[in-house]
Amino acid sequence: MNVRRAEMLVLALLCLTAAGAIAFVAVYFVGADTQLLGLTIGLAFAFAAAAAVIAGKAIVPLEIAVEERPRLAEPEQQEQVMEALEKPVEGITRKRLLTTAAGGAGVALAGAVVIPLVSLGPDADVQLGKSPWRRGRLLVDVDDAPILADEIGVGSFRTGFPQGADKEALASPVVVVRVEPAQLRLPAERSGWAPDGIMAYSKICTHAACAISLFRYPLYAPNSPGPALVCPCHYSTFDVLRGGDRIFGPAGRPLPQLPLLIDDRGQLVAGGDFSGRPGPSWWSVRK
Ligand code: FES
Repeated sequence: MNVRRAEMLVLALLCLTAAGAIAFVAVYFVGADTQLLGLTIGLAFAFAAAAAVIAGKAIVPLEIAVEERPRLAEPEQQEQVMEALEKPVEGITRKRLLTTAAGGAGVALAGAVVIPLVSLGPDADVQLGKSPWRRGRLLVDVDDAPILADEIGVGSFRTGFPQGADKEALASPVVVVRVEPAQLRLPAERSGWAPDGIMAYSKICTHAACAISLFRYPLYAPNSPGPALVCPCHYSTFDVLRGGDRIFGPAGRPLPQLPLLIDDRGQLVAGGDFSGRPGPSWWSVRK
C-alpha cells in the first residue's frame, strides 16, 4: 500500500473512531440498551486499533535511507531540488491533518470513557446514611395501613415502614416484635423505647444487608436461648431483649433499635431515630 492511500485510510479510520465514540455517548444519554453501548464503543476501539496498525506499518518510516548525489552546480539542478523539497511540505500538511484527526478521535474516546462516570451517582455513604424516621412518624404496613399496638401479640413479628416515605430506602423497613415486658433487659437510656414490650428494629441485617425475617420466640421450657431476631442468610442472631446485641454470626454490630410510642389511637409511632446506623457494615460503619 502506498503512503498516500495509507494516509487516507488512517484518516478515515480515525473519523470512524470519533464517530463511534460520539455514538456511544449519544446512546448512553438516550438510555438505549447495553448491547448498543457495547457495539459503539467496541467499534470505536476497533477503528482506533486498525488506524494505529496501518499508520505503524505504512506511514511511519521504519528505515533510514541515505541517497548519494552530486554537488549542485547547475541552476536547473537547483530547481529540481527545490521541487523535490516542496514534497515534504505537502507531507507536513497531511501530517497535521492526521494529527488533528488523531487528537479528535482521542478526545472523543476519552469522553466516551469518562462520561459514564456520572452513573456512579451521589455519594453512597451519604445516601445510605439517610433515615426517614423522626419522632411522631407513624408505622404502617406494606399497604400503608397504620400498625396498631393491639395487633402485635407476644411472640409475633410484623414488618413496618415509615408513613409517607420510600419503602425501598435502606433505612425504612423495621421489624416489630413483642415480648413480655418483664423479660426486657434494655439499656437504661432505652427504658421507654418498648411500650408494652413492643419493639422495633431495623429489618436490614448489619452483616451484609439481608432482610431479617425470622423471630425466635420460645413458647415452652426450656426457653433458653431466649427471643432473638435471626438473619436467614448467615444466621446472625440479635438479642431483642438487650437492644439488638449480636449474640451469634458474622454481623459485627448490633441491630439498630427504633424507639416506639403508642399514640392515643393505639397506633405505633416512632419516638425518634434509630439507636445506630441501619444497613450493612463497611469501612465507615463498623460500630
Ligand atoms: S447478611 Fe445477615 S448474617 Fe449475613
